[in-house]
Formats: sequence, C-alpha cells, structure tokens
Amino acid sequence: MANLQGDAKQLYVADLFARIAGRYDLMNSLMTGGMHHRWKRRTAGIAAAGLTGPALDIATGTGDLAFALAGQPGIGPALGVDLLPEMIALGQSKNDSKNRSKNRAKGTAGVVSFLVGDALALPFPDNSFACATAGFSLRNMPDLPQALAEMARVVRPGGRVATLELTPMEGRGVKSSLFRLYFHRIVPLIGQAVAGDRTAYTYLPQSVDYFLQADRLAALFREVGLSDVGYRKLGFGTVAVHWGRKGDG
Ligand SMILES: C[S@@+](CC[C@H](N)C(=O)[O-])C[C@H]1O[C@@H](n2cnc3c(N)ncnc32)[C@H](O)[C@@H]1O
Repeated sequence: MANLQGDAKQLYVADLFARIAGRYDLMNSLMTGGMHHRWKRRTAGIAAAGLTGPALDIATGTGDLAFALAGQPGIGPALGVDLLPEMIALGQSKNDSKNRSKNRAKGTAGVVSFLVGDALALPFPDNSFACATAGFSLRNMPDLPQALAEMARVVRPGGRVATLELTPMEGRGVKSSLFRLYFHRIVPLIGQAVAGDRTAYTYLPQSVDYFLQADRLAALFREVGLSDVGYRKLGFGTVAVHWGRKGDG
C-alpha cells in the first residue's frame, strides 16, 4: 500500500489516520521513547530562528509541532492545518487549560488555532507566514513537490520552511539492520497491541522504504525555489530535519 499514488494514496492515508487518531499520540511516544517531542521542538526552533510573526504547521495531526512553534520566541499566532476533522478535534483539545499545563511541562506552551484543510491547496494567500513546518507527513502526501511548493508559497520572503521526517537508513550495517527489525517487526506488533491496527503500523515502515533519501529531499527543497537548504539527522539517523529559506526577491 505504501506504493500507492495520487487519489488512491490520499484516500488510503485519510482512512488510516482516521482509524488510529485516538491512539496516535500514545503510539508516537511509545515508538520513539518520547523523543518525538524533542525532535519537534528542534524543528520548530530551526523554522522560527530569528523570525517574528505567524507560523503554520501543515498536516498537523494532533498539533504537537504547531504547539512547539507557538512556544518559540517571536512566533504568534501558530496555526495547524490537517485534512482530518478527527485529528483537528484532538489538537483543539490540547488548548484547554488542563492540557496546556501538560504542554508547558513538555516545553511547548502557547495556544494554537486549528483548521481543516488540504496541504496540497492551502487556503492562504502567498507570503502569509514567517515560517511553515511539516512533521512526519511528507511521506503521506500524494504529491510531495506540490506540498513543498505550497509551504514555500505561503511563507513570506525571508521566511523559512522546515520539515521533520523519517528517513531511509543508508548502508547495510548492524545499526541499519537493527532499526529495520524494529520498524518492520516490532512496531506493527505495538500497533496491534496499542492501537488495535497492525495494518496501519505495517504501512509506516514500508512508507519510509519508499521515501526519498535525505539528499534527494534537500534537492527537492531547492527545486521548489528555496535557498540556504540544509538538513540534519537525529534519532540515530532515523529522522531528518530539513530547512530552506524563501528568497527576498
Ligand atoms: C503521521 S501524521 C503526522 C501528524 C503530525 N504532523 C505529527 O508530527 O505528529 C500525518 C498527518 O497528515 C495528515 N494528512 C495527510 N494528507 C494530508 C493532506 N493532503 N492535507 C493535510 N493533511 C494531510 C493526516 O490526516 C495525518 O494527521
């Protein structure tokens, strides 16, 4: 299923995330040992560094990266957009006071506005945001160049686009074999036990296998017109943060 394209991929992905929405946060914390919060804060920090004004997180899911943006100095308001009302409702609920104090404990204080919308046709004029981010969602896009081009379009000149994504591991060493074993064998079992959905968590490692190597994704950032492009691998080389700047002219 990870090799689906176009509308078939979008339908498959939407159905999958609607099924697992209620267990999505718990599964992220279990699979990454809680590290995804740190990675999201890092991504938000890279996206927002030295910028002021509104920030956008596309395919925001339950909004963790959007909350990390809201906690950055100079950033506000922060907005999260997702295709699924189920995810948006869960993100909204993190704005209530009880959950806000939990977010503060994770170092991601702030309020986020949420909107149902398609990352491939963002409902915003050009040059609207200081920065735009995407977390663990590019792999799921039926048209990756279009998603990146939309992020670049809505960011102001001088603004930044930053993404956090699982990245195919290079080489065939012990580390790579161990992570393949973990992703392909253990994660589906956790998905079955915790989310009651082995299929969804079998798609996850397969979608990483089909995804671009980090260098190729950096090249795509340049192809959509971004400059000063770079990336850094985190999580023992399993995830990559990419960034690029929209030119002033
Ligand atoms: C793996 S989750 C990532 C959620 C969140 N960004 C995070 O870092 O945890 C992928 C999200 O992409 C959303 N999505 C998939 N296709 C989309 C599209 N075309 N437009 C907006 N959201 C989309 C799904 O609904 C889902 O919430």
